[in-house]
Amino acid sequence: PMADDLFGLNELASQLQHYLQINRVVVVQGDSDQAEWVKQELGRMGARLLKQYVREGDVIAVTGGSTIASVSAHLTPSSAFRTVQFVPARGGLGEKAELQANSLVSSMAAKTGASYRLLHVPDRLPADALQTLKEEPQIMEVLSLLHSARIVLHGIGEAIKMAQRRRYDEEELAELRELGAVSEAFGYYFNEAGEIVHRMETIGLQLEDVQNAEVVISIAGGASKAKAILSFAKQSCQNVLITDEGAARAILGKE
Ligand code: F6P
Repeated sequence: PMADDLFGLNELASQLQHYLQINRVVVVQGDSDQAEWVKQELGRMGARLLKQYVREGDVIAVTGGSTIASVSAHLTPSSAFRTVQFVPARGGLGEKAELQANSLVSSMAAKTGASYRLLHVPDRLPADALQTLKEEPQIMEVLSLLHSARIVLHGIGEAIKMAQRRRYDEEELAELRELGAVSEAFGYYFNEAGEIVHRMETIGLQLEDVQNAEVVISIAGGASKAKAILSFAKQSCQNVLITDEGAARAILGKE
């Protein structure tokens, strides 16, 4: 805590909390655009807060991405997780295998002693194939677990960067730009005002599920994500934001 005060991190966090109207904001030192250790700090903080919020029997919906992967890296065994299930928020969203939600839930379960479920849905399936999958008993079971998720742990990305990472073609990218897409989270793309402008057709967590969850923990850092964090905060469905100094200063216009 002394180091926090030294760097004015608590002050930054409380300004951000007020500005974004989020119940709890935690700011870690540094800028994850500049140094990899900052993303590790985000992960360490994510693991710490998850342990604070977790309750017996919880279903925790988890997204993919490198920030959430770093949470997984910092989780440790704890009896608090014994009856917990980690469930991937969405089917494939075009991430590398090690950054996919399916991989992260299995490593989170292994680290904590919890159990996990998988959601095997390939990327970008045609609508009729998706519909068939949605009627599969195993998938229906996972979807119903997601509806009951009490905790959602997710990353936030820049819309265009995420669409490129997911190999959208030039036409699709141009369309997203036209729609004013700024942020992306769990397959939804939002504009500056926080309105949904596009969503990936895949199976999994719906925005309603996120709104129904009691604890929504968003983790995203780096000055480059400032606009995306701001856009997603307009959704007002998150209660905890873990970010870094770089993003916090950029959002508050203090670079
Ligand atoms: O693709 C999963 C996902 O959680 C996205 O919803 C989000 O935009 C992105 O990963 C964040 O990735 P990273 O933490 O690597 O920036």
